[in-house]
Amino acid sequence: MGARAHGSTGKVHFGGLDEVSLYGTPVEAAPPPGPPDPKSSFLKNQLQALFQPTDNKLAMKLFGSKKALMKERIRQKAAGHWVIHPCSSFRFYWDLCMLLLLVANLIILPVAISFFNDDLSTRWIAFNCLSDTIFLIDIVVNFRTGIMQQDNSEQVILDPKLIAKHYLRTWFFLDLISSIPLDYIFLIFNQDFSESFQILHAGRALRILRLAKLLSLVRLLRLSRLVRYVSQWEEVYFLNMASVFMRIFNLICMMLLIGHWSGCLQFLVPMLQGFPSNSWVAINELQEAFWLEQYSWALFKAMSHMLCIGYGRFPPQSLTDMWLTMLSMISGATCYALFLGHATNLIQSLDSSRRQYREKVKQVEEYMAYRKLPREMRQRITEYFEHRYQGKFFDEELILGELSEKLREDVINYNCRSLVASVPFFANADSNFVSDVVTKLRYEVFQPGDIIIKEGTIGSKMYFIQEGIVDIVMANGEVATSLSDGSYFGEICLLTNARRVASVRAETYCNLFSLSVDHFNAVLDQYPLMRRTMESVAAERLNKIGKNPNLVAHRSEEDAGSINAVVVALAAEAEHASRSPDRGPPSLGLALRPLQAAAFLGQRLPRPKSDNNVSADHDPQPLARGFFHKSDAAFPQ
Ligand code: CMP
Repeated sequence: MGARAHGSTGKVHFGGLDEVSLYGTPVEAAPPPGPPDPKSSFLKNQLQALFQPTDNKLAMKLFGSKKALMKERIRQKAAGHWVIHPCSSFRFYWDLCMLLLLVANLIILPVAISFFNDDLSTRWIAFNCLSDTIFLIDIVVNFRTGIMQQDNSEQVILDPKLIAKHYLRTWFFLDLISSIPLDYIFLIFNQDFSESFQILHAGRALRILRLAKLLSLVRLLRLSRLVRYVSQWEEVYFLNMASVFMRIFNLICMMLLIGHWSGCLQFLVPMLQGFPSNSWVAINELQEAFWLEQYSWALFKAMSHMLCIGYGRFPPQSLTDMWLTMLSMISGATCYALFLGHATNLIQSLDSSRRQYREKVKQVEEYMAYRKLPREMRQRITEYFEHRYQGKFFDEELILGELSEKLREDVINYNCRSLVASVPFFANADSNFVSDVVTKLRYEVFQPGDIIIKEGTIGSKMYFIQEGIVDIVMANGEVATSLSDGSYFGEICLLTNARRVASVRAETYCNLFSLSVDHFNAVLDQYPLMRRTMESVAAERLNKIGKNPNLVAHRSEEDAGSINAVVVALAAEAEHASRSPDRGPPSLGLALRPLQAAAFLGQRLPRPKSDNNVSADHDPQPLARGFFHKSDAAFPQ
């Protein structure tokens, strides 16, 4: 704080806290009391305001906040009155005008030079004089415009000396050459030859005139300015996908411009030679034709070469024609190659997740062939991939890892909304608890017949079912019950620190979310009530399969009420589901969805194809770790 603008007006200053708005934005203070500065006229103030950075897109991108922008304004004021900030409104409109003028110049100039060679109409001279003058003013403006540093965008160079040095070192000479006011020289030259136009018909004068006209081709070097302005705008206004489209659009425009130039050149050269009889113009009898007809044929000829389609109406007959044809062929082929490269890039970037998926599948196929896996296993792997990724492949861990913590949490919570809504255990829980759990979940897919949990093993995670049916299989092979969307299993082992009390087998394709034991304990330590709720449900489950429910029961009297509320809510949900005509009997702790109803009625669901696919229980899918399909929610831990 305490920075104060120097200079005569001293309008903006950045002083103590009282001068900072509620949001910490420095406020523009009134001019200091005293007699008004006689030098500062209204117009001058207006102009200087135009030179200051405004809160446009470019400024916001560079400075990030209004506060920083105010600081920049102060810095700009301190740099001197006639320094134009690159983010100012003046520079924006100036660049826009220059862009339009440049495009007009680059299109009109070659036509005028090639097809109106001996025409010294006042319109032409006026146009040239005006644009030359504006381009010369542009050089002056460039000498006073601050420079944005590529490497350090925070600091815009505002010192006039440094700006001049930088400009002289970079684009000044090209800009100067392309702005030499050749038509003023022309006018002087015309005055010198007092006989004026009459003398122009004399051979020598005509040649000088043609040479001068030819010289004005250097104006086409203004193309460099066009490229600079366009790329600067591109950077600011077109990000992401738009930038790729913009690049292609620019390239097409550039190709059309080069085609236009090449067409003009096709005509200019034979014209300078005086239309020899074997030139294409003479062969086509276009010497005396209207300029538009001449231009159309010339453009057609140039385009035919450039696109490598043909030679126009007739193949080249003269040596110069042949060289010109070669030149336009080379330029056309180069543009074509560039265009293809950019278009391929665009198409690839349009659907990178699908491309990545295809690459991954290809790699897996090669791996399966390399390892000579049996046909049936290959089939299962392929099906797994199709189901797991459904044609799109994202490295979600990486994507989410690049977000801010808050954003990451919000995205994960959003991705989990359907799971949270379908799992009664979550639906009735504290939102902080839900948020804590979902951020630690990991997406996993099991195929029909996979043994997700094997009885008697030591468990390292529990699962929530997003979609699918699992069977709880007892030691004797009997199916105790089936669980479906919104249910959870594998919690008993984590609660008791004992071994798995039953096996769990995937009945259909199952989209599950697993929670590791460490995360499970960490979260439940913070929410003891949820632990007890889970214990109550676990006790019921154990009871149902004929095991001792006391293995998990640690309920204290005070909690009983709250736990009961949750358990009752869970039971009510199950009850509600069971009332549907096609539903089975209620089961505590099971969120019954249409799919599992059949299981409760004792109806047998189609048996799995195989039941020997035992899940590793530690990390069943190292390949799939951290990757997901668009509709999934995978959760980095
Ligand atoms: P866990 O012992 O870790 O592993 C097997 C899982 O099967 C067990 O946890 C419970 O989640 C689940 N389970 C066991 N019996 C039942 C039941 N009667 N109803 C629903 N799920 C059960």
